[in-house]
Amino acid sequence: MYAIPFLDIPPLLRAGGSVRLPGSKSISNRVLLLAGLCEGTTTVHDLLDSDDTQVMLAALRTLGCRMESEGASLRITGLGGRLPVREASLFLGNAGTAMRPLTAALAVLAATQGGSFELSGVPRMHERPIADLVDALRPLGCRIDYLGQAGYPPLRLLPGTGHLDLSAPIRVRGDVSSQFLTALLLALPLLTREQPATIAIDGELISKPYIEITLNLLARFGVCVQREGWQRFVIPAGSCYRSPGDIHVEGDASSASYFIALGAIAATDTPLRIEGVGTDSIQGDIRFIDAAEAMGARVTGGAGWVEVQRGRWPLAAIDIDCNPIPDAAMTLAVMALYADGPSRLRNIASWRVKETDRITAMAIELRKLGAGVVEGPDFIEITPPRHWTPSAIHTYDDHRVAMCFSLAAFNPLAVPPPAEPVTVRILDPKCVAKTFPDYFETLFSVVGTQSDWVPVITIDGPTASGKGTLACAVAQELGYQVLDSGVLYRATALAAMRSAVDAEDENALAALADALNLDFEAGGVLLDGVDVSALLRHESVGTLASRISAWPAVRQALLRLQWSFRRVPGLVADGRDMGTVIFPQADLKIYLTASADARARRRYQQLEAAGVSTTLPGLLAGLQERDARDQNRVASPLKPAADAVLLDNSALSIESTVESVLSCWAQRRPFA
Ligand code: DC
Repeated sequence: MYAIPFLDIPPLLRAGGSVRLPGSKSISNRVLLLAGLCEGTTTVHDLLDSDDTQVMLAALRTLGCRMESEGASLRITGLGGRLPVREASLFLGNAGTAMRPLTAALAVLAATQGGSFELSGVPRMHERPIADLVDALRPLGCRIDYLGQAGYPPLRLLPGTGHLDLSAPIRVRGDVSSQFLTALLLALPLLTREQPATIAIDGELISKPYIEITLNLLARFGVCVQREGWQRFVIPAGSCYRSPGDIHVEGDASSASYFIALGAIAATDTPLRIEGVGTDSIQGDIRFIDAAEAMGARVTGGAGWVEVQRGRWPLAAIDIDCNPIPDAAMTLAVMALYADGPSRLRNIASWRVKETDRITAMAIELRKLGAGVVEGPDFIEITPPRHWTPSAIHTYDDHRVAMCFSLAAFNPLAVPPPAEPVTVRILDPKCVAKTFPDYFETLFSVVGTQSDWVPVITIDGPTASGKGTLACAVAQELGYQVLDSGVLYRATALAAMRSAVDAEDENALAALADALNLDFEAGGVLLDGVDVSALLRHESVGTLASRISAWPAVRQALLRLQWSFRRVPGLVADGRDMGTVIFPQADLKIYLTASADARARRRYQQLEAAGVSTTLPGLLAGLQERDARDQNRVASPLKPAADAVLLDNSALSIESTVESVLSCWAQRRPFA
């Protein structure tokens, strides 16, 4: 996950391969609450690990639920409808799926068993309406106070008379958020051992598929709700929660929408396969498939999987009622950038009360890219850009804004294509943690582009100048790949030692370099499947690397391998000739150095810390000898590129060195 303030996505061209989706947020938080309320122990498999589920888990723990990890699964021992903790203050972030159902459940429990609970969230949560739910609960005898603005969290739930009156139907509005009905449906079975409960809906119920998820999961926990159309819901007398023992959370269908769209836009050669959620899903957002097909996607699927390929191109403009797929519909707004005319998404008033006012947010950000946008109280109409503009997309702390706008990076595929392919900057990319912490990593694992569109930062310099540490830190900050080119020369040296190839045999060394079997996946460096990370750091290996790296044929043999590191979203490459020979067109070149004394001291401290005995004068001499050889060789000698930024860090901390490179980078990439 990225901790950085922005993520630049270079123009993208292709998609294909396979992704596995994290668990559904809607299912995860409902299952957690159900497991927390019911009698007995429930083992939850494939639970989503994200901000929204973390707040629910923390709340349940505070309320006294016992939780134990069991491998990747979680065992929850429920409260059995009793309150062991009678007073608590619960912080629920911006999770509507935690705030609404916990309000209902705790209001009911506090009223019947005595208790006092405070529920709060982030500032945006305190702007998201909850009055309809409070108004439904108060007539039963629940006592709920607004602690801030009336109608909005934070709330205090107070003890009641001990008895709640279920004789009359409980009326709740259905046209603002379906979560109010879900909250009641999840809470009322706490009261229905002896008496039935009836809920009557005022107004047209929106987002019905989310109610289907709720009913489906209630049934898994032993409560069968009788439904009369979408107007009346009856929980029969004798209903109470029973743990199903084990329960699996399916992949998130709303998260699937980004990859379904990705396939429709860019999977031209091989399909994009999505695993974890399939056409058998109980989540309404899986119907996003129909909308994507209407725009031209070719989709096949089965239990737990979907495959998508581009069909029609450009996509067909659509005019569609999005009420059944409110969350996934945001993805359609970005697909509309690639359509053959204006697309209209209707019946999306609920967008205005989500993580942010999503109609306004989408309109502002789509316009930045160059699209024509008309917005109304409950619709948005999008005309594809005539001129695409490089844009910094504001994400409003809304995971879905961040995720769906990543798809704008496929602008080179638009018909007609933009004159210049456009980079898309996603501001505050870590907001995806609400539901999909690894979203960008997952996306980047299945997309491709022209390598010269992928930005490169090169960091060259003499040995022990700290370029490796700097490169890793900068790459980490930017979410980029990293190439430590010295490792390739060191690995060649190690391979030469092992197969007793002479340091003067240029051709044999080049053949070794060409056939290197390296793997960087596991964090370390594997040579022929064996972790050699520690061995590669040996001084003897470094010295031999310095010698053999003078051979032109060895350098030639390592070219392609080095270029292959240039992958989305970008690369930080460190070595001796990154800016001069390997990536001469790099977007930013740093030449990092420090006095020989400073470098020898650093190396000395490193080795001492690693328990290797050595002397400072010996190290200094070795280092100077290596400098001389690297600088004076004929092939790719160590020297700053003409356009490199020179940075002497003899007296700088690593943090301030990183800072200064990042600020150079920010200046090189201006955005509107
Ligand atoms: O950066 P390092 O100490 O891991 O590099 C080991 C040797 O590899 C170094 O002495 C010179 C050589 N090298 C090179 O010639 N070109 C590079 N781009 C990186 C390293």
